Amino acid sequence: MKKLIIINGPNLNLLGKREPNIYGSLTFTEFLEEIKGKYNNVEIDYFQSNIEGELINKLHEVGFTYDGIILNAAAYTHTSIGIGDAIKAIETPVVEVHISNTFGREEFRHNSYISPNAKGVILGFGLQSYELAIQSF
Ligand code: DQA
Repeated sequence: MKKLIIINGPNLNLLGKREPNIYGSLTFTEFLEEIKGKYNNVEIDYFQSNIEGELINKLHEVGFTYDGIILNAAAYTHTSIGIGDAIKAIETPVVEVHISNTFGREEFRHNSYISPNAKGVILGFGLQSYELAIQSF
């Protein structure tokens, strides 16, 4: 069975409450239960942190044994050279996801330190972005 992990960055613990017009009203826990049931031929682990270094530590921890990483680095996408470098340093392929279409939003969201090192990028499909990433593995 393939082993995947979803890694969510800062503020994504507030999904369901946070700007529901952009990010929807489902909590990630609810969504995770739903997709674990739906994609029961893959193992899906989950990690969320608001702290940049913890995200980097988790990438190091899983990045040599897992089959795939689905990463929504949230705001760190646009700022973190450290997370970009971590993706270069590990072996497991990373698919970058975003709930919103970051290119339709503020200019500062158009840059990503993740994309150049990612296997692919999926954005703008709401929580379905994560499902499309799962299907890609
Ligand atoms: C986000 C987009 C980012 O620009 C933002 O900082 C987020 C969420 C998304 O999933 O749409 O926190 O990664």
